[in-house]
Amino acid sequence: MDEVTFKSDTVLSDVHLYTPNHRHLMVRLNGMGQPVFLSQFKLLWTRDAQTDSGAAGGGHSAVPAEEMPTPGPGSAGCPRGSGCGADGTDTTGRAGPGAQLDEDGDLDVERRPRAASDPEPAGPPRDKVHPMILTQEEEDTLADGAGEGRPQDIIRIEHTMATPLEDVGKQVWRGALLLADYILFQRDLFQGRTVLELGAGTGLASIVAATVARTVYCTDVGADLLAMCQRNIALNGHLTAAGGGVIKVKELDWLQDDLCTDPEVPFSWSQEDISDLYSHTTILLAAEVFYDDDLTDALFTTLSRLAHKLKNACTAILSVEKRLNFTLRHLDVTCEAYEHFRSWLQRLEKRADSRLRFAVEPVEASFPQLLAYERTRQLELWRICVEPVT
Ligand SMILES: C[S@@+](CC[C@H](N)C(=O)[O-])C[C@H]1O[C@@H](n2cnc3c(N)ncnc32)[C@H](O)[C@@H]1O
Repeated sequence: MDEVTFKSDTVLSDVHLYTPNHRHLMVRLNGMGQPVFLSQFKLLWTRDAQTDSGAAGGGHSAVPAEEMPTPGPGSAGCPRGSGCGADGTDTTGRAGPGAQLDEDGDLDVERRPRAASDPEPAGPPRDKVHPMILTQEEEDTLADGAGEGRPQDIIRIEHTMATPLEDVGKQVWRGALLLADYILFQRDLFQGRTVLELGAGTGLASIVAATVARTVYCTDVGADLLAMCQRNIALNGHLTAAGGGVIKVKELDWLQDDLCTDPEVPFSWSQEDISDLYSHTTILLAAEVFYDDDLTDALFTTLSRLAHKLKNACTAILSVEKRLNFTLRHLDVTCEAYEHFRSWLQRLEKRADSRLRFAVEPVEASFPQLLAYERTRQLELWRICVEPVT
């Protein structure tokens, strides 16, 4: 397949577009008629640990990362409230002062030429990856993992490539890879634990957690997405079987106060699971779920509600990408979704709660990188320790 074109109202994760050496093989259409691809994420155990942030994995952008507005789940169109219309003009129909529009009305942003003082790109240039259609014989070859290294070093994930915003969970996001790296680095922390992942998407981080954890509740919303997640867990049974970790795929909607227990609903909760969740969970995970302010509100409200229901103290580990978007309203690069996320962290810390204390701290992303992706400075990890007030 040659160049694939994507519609402007779809979003495409950088992981699928720019990470070299990944094979994107189309294997089927999902229940919504979207093409599903199978990618292999190889654990680079044998490679020298790359602790140098930004130097490893998926190459390097020619444009300094801090200057480059980054695509993301929330940036398909203009950010909510940005005053920016879909045609590249502001909502009053005017282009901002000095703004250049191309023939389609898109904003033309001139890149600053590379200066001699700019640091040299640390890695190979970013190669765009082109999807391929998988034939039946190739599928068999892939199933064997032939030529791709040891099976225990390969995570196989089915995902879609470009989706409307409501289906972003069907793609893999860089935050999931950062979180997976952290889990692999902190294996002792996860050993034998009960873990709950919120907004798990394709399930990659949950799968990695289950290589050491006892039980992982891998949660998200939507039967189609959860079915894809369940399939990914089956595809990676060889990784989790050795440690005896169990992954349970469940629906957990941050916009609902209660867990769904209706047995007629796919991925609903049994009373036994709920009891196990509240009695034993000590680690909560969430990757790349802070792209819409209303959803961020719902996620933190859910996190707080769960923390109050858990029997034990817990630690939440959150990954977030500080996405920079150019808005005509500000005529500047802003990161409103990230600012909203940070305001929630502050709010939690200051919260006068009679029962729980929330201690928030950033986790320096200096741990080894075993998965190939671009660990930019905008990719952050945060830890929230929730303890009873004594
Ligand atoms: C950008 S994706 C991240 C997926 C995955 N964590 C990753 O990093 O690859 C955001 C995820 O949040 C989930 N999500 C959005 N709204 C939700 C809600 N109300 N309740 C639970 N999950 C939700 C989406 O379905 C999606 O899987």
